[in-house]
Amino acid sequence: MGWTLQQPRSRHLLLLFITFATCITFVFISKSDTRDLYDHSSVTYKMAEMEMRVDHLTRLYELKDKDVQELIKHFSSVLKTIVKSLNVSVSEDIESLMIAYNKSVEMVRSPMAHFDVYTFLPHLRSHENYLRPLILHSGGRNAVSMVFGVPTVRRQQQTYLIQTLINIISNMNQTEQKDSLIVVMIGEIDQQYLQQVTAEIKNRLPEAVNSGLVDIIAPSPEYYPDFSKLRITLGDSEDRVRWRSKQNLDYVFLMMYCQPKGSFYVQLEDDVVAKPQFHTIMKKTALQRIADGQEWFILDFCRLGFIGKMMRCSDLPWLIQFIVMFYNDKPGDWLLDGMMETKACNLEKDLRDCRKRKDEIWVTFRPSLFQHIGTRSSLNGKIQLLKDSLFKKSVNVKRINKIKGK
Ligand SMILES: *[C@@H]1O[C@H](CO)[C@@H](O)[C@H](O)[C@H]1NC(C)=O
Ligand SMILES: *[C@@H]1O[C@H](CO)[C@@H](O)[C@H](O)[C@H]1NC(C)=O
Ligand SMILES: *[C@@H]1O[C@H](CO)[C@@H](O)[C@H](O)[C@H]1NC(C)=O
Repeated sequence: MGWTLQQPRSRHLLLLFITFATCITFVFISKSDTRDLYDHSSVTYKMAEMEMRVDHLTRLYELKDKDVQELIKHFSSVLKTIVKSLNVSVSEDIESLMIAYNKSVEMVRSPMAHFDVYTFLPHLRSHENYLRPLILHSGGRNAVSMVFGVPTVRRQQQTYLIQTLINIISNMNQTEQKDSLIVVMIGEIDQQYLQQVTAEIKNRLPEAVNSGLVDIIAPSPEYYPDFSKLRITLGDSEDRVRWRSKQNLDYVFLMMYCQPKGSFYVQLEDDVVAKPQFHTIMKKTALQRIADGQEWFILDFCRLGFIGKMMRCSDLPWLIQFIVMFYNDKPGDWLLDGMMETKACNLEKDLRDCRKRKDEIWVTFRPSLFQHIGTRSSLNGKIQLLKDSLFKKSVNVKRINKIKGK
């Protein structure tokens, strides 16, 4: 990309940072004015949160594929959120700048086009639209702290999607719900089925859907490659290779959609239960680490597979790219492990050293905040009995029973 193309972007970016600097100054001033209003830790969290959001924006910019316009749009709402949450009034200058930004914002063409998936999914090349999600429902919510990704597929036997959603939502209070976005991605292309699941979610969770807490999406049918042409890998059956390769592509699609929508991404599944206050616990843990300057890539709140893995949204592109490169080779959770190994391990040292280095950036928390409830895998016929022993049962038995109507 030539320098001439970069120039207007740089100007925008500069403007962006000037505004941000103004904002920070402003916040600092108001903070010193009203020191007694905020206890030390909440200010530390706020600062960590802002730092992380700037980091997010900067990295989005560095990916340099998305319109700066969109960045600005995102920034403007982030700014608003910060200003609002600190309960300070904004000077008219900033307000008018924000309005000016807003005016220059165009609708985004394709929100996901800025990842290089084309090299690895060549059938998508020259069809940017194939990456456009089918939005079955969206309240347009963004700039939240936590984005929860819930992939779901049609199952032969029991489905747990609705009870999973009810459980997740009932374990968040109003504050936590307002600060979240739950994205349900239905990894199917049968239109009738998509409409049916969407209707059921809307029907069973009208408040969550209407408030903007829940987005429902599906990939365009052309997103999936020809699964009959996959390489058989790891000595698995054809069915299994197809199942796990599609699952990887579903993760990727979901993550691409979620990436610009918040600060942290949490991977969930369609058959889990959560602990009360999981939102606050996770967010605090992440902000504490950021405030302490401790490095991390994954904060892990469940030991099973991909469940309960929390990442910065700004780090997601690495994982998206990694999974899409090897989607045909290994299951997603193994790829995650492989990526962490690549990131952390010194090949000249032994396994123990590798483990130690990995644990530093992939931090596991006890007790687990999520538990698996399904016994049937979405791979037909596969029985899935894995449970996380670090999840204390007692808390949730009552809730699960309530949901099951017992
Ligand atoms: C915000 O600040 C105003 C005064 O500047 C005060 O009256 C109001 O109660 C505050 N709101 C909250 C939620 O703290
Ligand atoms: C900017 O636009 C968003 C929606 O795109 C809106 O919610 C927000 O209030 C606008 N901000 C200003 C300052 O007009
Ligand atoms: C929700 O829970 C968090 C953490 O316990 C708390 O800080 C917040 O005030 C609660 N909000 C409401 C509306 O109860």
